[in-house]
Formats: sequence, C-alpha cells, structure tokens
Amino acid sequence: MTAPDPVVSVLLDPGWASGALVADVRRGLGERPLRLPPKWLYDDRGSELFDRITRLDAYYPFRAERAIFQRHAAEIAAACDATTLVELGSGTSEKTRLLLDALHDTGRLRRFVPLDVSEGTLRQAAADLSARFPEVAVEAVVGDFTLHLGQLPHGDPSEGGGRLVAFLGGTIGNLYVEERAAFLGALADSLEPGEWLLLGTDLVKSADRLVAAYDDAGGLTAAFVGNCLLVLNRELGADFDPDAYRYVPFWDPTLERMDLRLRAEVPQRVSIPGADLVVDVGLGEEIQVEISTKFRPDGVRRELGVAGFEVTATWTDPDGDFALTLARRR
Ligand code: AVJ
Repeated sequence: MTAPDPVVSVLLDPGWASGALVADVRRGLGERPLRLPPKWLYDDRGSELFDRITRLDAYYPFRAERAIFQRHAAEIAAACDATTLVELGSGTSEKTRLLLDALHDTGRLRRFVPLDVSEGTLRQAAADLSARFPEVAVEAVVGDFTLHLGQLPHGDPSEGGGRLVAFLGGTIGNLYVEERAAFLGALADSLEPGEWLLLGTDLVKSADRLVAAYDDAGGLTAAFVGNCLLVLNRELGADFDPDAYRYVPFWDPTLERMDLRLRAEVPQRVSIPGADLVVDVGLGEEIQVEISTKFRPDGVRRELGVAGFEVTATWTDPDGDFALTLARRR
C-alpha cells in the first residue's frame, strides 16, 4: 500500500514577519526586562541545533524521556482509548514514533496530528510518518500551541474514541507560571471529557547536572539560544550584533527553573524595522530568552487538577530524571 500524502494546514503567517512574531517582539522588547518567547528559536537552523543538543551526553532529558517510552509505551497505549494522537510542539517526532508504534499495535490508531511552528521540520516528519504508518491519516498543523488549540481536528466519535494530546520533551517548562496555567486551562477547554493528555516534565535534580545540560562546552546551546537574534535580523530586518551577546544560563533554585539569557557585553542601539521598534540595550543588560522549569510529581498533579484533568498514571525513567504523566479530562 502506498502512503497517502500527509495533509499539512498552515495556521501561522508565512515567513513569520507579520502577526505573532511582531506582537511578541513589540511586547517583549518594548519593556523591561527584555524578553523573547522561545518559540521563535525554532526556525530551520534552530530546529537543527536543538536536534544536535538532544544528542549531547549532558543533555539527559531527551534520552530519559525516550527510555520511558522504550520501557512503557505499550502500557501507555493500553491505559487510554484514544484513536487520534495529537502532538504539540512535535519537532522531528522522533520519540513519538515509539508511542505511535504502541498505539498502532492496539489497532485503534486512526490519525496523527503533529503541530509545530517549524514548517520544514514538520513537513519532513509528516512525510516520514505517513510512509511508516500508511493506514494512519497524518494531518500536520503548522501552528503555535499557545494560539491554535481551538483549531485542532476533533476526535471522531464514530471511531469510538477521542484524542490523546502528547506534550513532550518538557516543553511545558518553557512557559512562565501564569502562561502555564492559562495554557493548561485552554487545553482542557479544547478537549471533551474523557479525552487524554500525556505530559512530559523534566524533574528537579542537582544544580550541577542541570547547568551541565544547558551549558555545553562546545557552545551548541549558546548558538541555539543566540539564534533568536539571527531570526529577528532576518525576519524583521533587525541589526543585532550577535557577537556582542554572551550566553548566560543559571539555575534559579527558588523558582526551580533554568534561566537562559543573553547578556550584552557591548551596549547597542538596535533597530527592528519590522516591529517598528528601536531598543537601547545597555552594557550588561540581559535578554531573557528561555526558561526551562523543572517539576515535582506532586506539583504536576496539582496543576493538572486545577486545570480540569485527573491524573491516571505516571511513569519515570530508571534514574528518576523525567516523568510522563497521563491525565484524563474530567
Ligand atoms: C525543547 C524546551 C524541552 O527546555 O530543555 C534545550 C529546549 N533549550 N537546551 C529544554 C532547550 C536549551 C528544551 N525544550
């Protein structure tokens, strides 16, 4: 059987140069502290850099989550009755293949809906997956999981099952506390009672290991975080001098999150014509590019409960570094 072509819907503006990127840049760089949302790190170059980060020895979250799928994918598939798998922030969907295999083995899987901002990476993943699972309809969405939850395809009740939304990799840790509550609430609102969420969360551990995971000597993570400046230069005609910024990652023990910033070592007046903005970045001033929050299982259960989910199972890797939580919309 030949694979049907994957369907790809594009909900983001082409080239990012209008709409959401401009709004984010105006908001984030129009006030202090300077801040940029991490989703704009993932152009094709950023996606490629992140993919290389996942292969670094010190970057344990990727391997830890994969180890959970290797051991428990069949259990996870058996624990829910979904016929559609939706993946938010799917990237290459590499680990998701293990879950797709297990769901496929149950005979119930009809449809896979990967959603990502990175169109090139998404198209490639969608094509690979429809070749691998010819009888599963692949309906990819180029979109933003903070904006487009309401536009996800619905489960088909005639198939007797709803959706399982996978949000993996610890990406939820990129959201600030208020954004996280809003996101989980919006996600719950977009689901029918009885539909499922599989949430990947990185767990709190020693500061040494955390810092090592986000500060590799080869500079891959620095290049990844610094990529946001190149994106603004290209998409909005900005004139950031990328060499003027030093990557400064640190562990915030109070908020229990990695905080990844760019610090100006040379003051610069930056113009960003595409956002109609001029920013005076002072010597030593920092741009907050990404946080990566680490969780405790109790906190995950509590936050999901507040949002309208009931946790039905949790799996961790053998070292207890990472957790996958399965929850049901109440
Ligand atoms: C893709 C968001 C899970 O927070 O660990 C890796 C991104 N940033 N190194 C993370 C990231 C720097 C990553 N997530």
